[in-house]
Amino acid sequence: MEKQKLIDRLNEDLSYEFGAIVQYVTYAAKATGPYRPQLAQFFLAEVPDEQAHAQFLANKIVALGGEPANKAAPVTEARTNRAMLEAVLEAERDAMRRYTERARQAEEFGDKGLAVQLEDMIRDESGHAEETERILRDWPL
Ligand SMILES: [Fe+2]
Ligand SMILES: [Fe+2]
Repeated sequence: MEKQKLIDRLNEDLSYEFGAIVQYVTYAAKATGPYRPQLAQFFLAEVPDEQAHAQFLANKIVALGGEPANKAAPVTEARTNRAMLEAVLEAERDAMRRYTERARQAEEFGDKGLAVQLEDMIRDESGHAEETERILRDWPL
C-alpha cells in the first residue's frame, strides 16, 4: 500500500474516533431512567480510550507527512437507551473491522510499529464491544 493511501485510511479512522467521542459524550447526556447513572458513567468511561486512539492516529498521520483530519464522522441517531447501546456496539465492531484491515495494510506498508499499535487498539475496541454486548444481553426491554 502506498503511503498516501495509508494516510487517507488513517484519517478516516481518526474521524471515526472523533465521532466515537461525540457519540459517547452525547449519549451519556441522553441516558434516561433508573439506569441513567450507570449508563452515563459507562459511556463517559470510554472517552479516554477513544481520545488516546485519536491522539495516536493524529500523531502518526503527521509523522507520515500527512495532515490530520479535523472532522468527526457522523454519529448514529438514537433515542432510547437500548438504541444507544446498539449503536455503540455496532460502532465498536466497525472499529474492530477497520483496525484489523488497517493493521494488515500497515504490515504491507512495512510499518511494524503501526501494525502493533493498531492491534492494541483492536484489543481496546473489542473490550468496549464485549462490555456493551453483555449489558445488552439482559436488557429489560
Ligand atoms: Fe477507538
Ligand atoms: Fe471504542
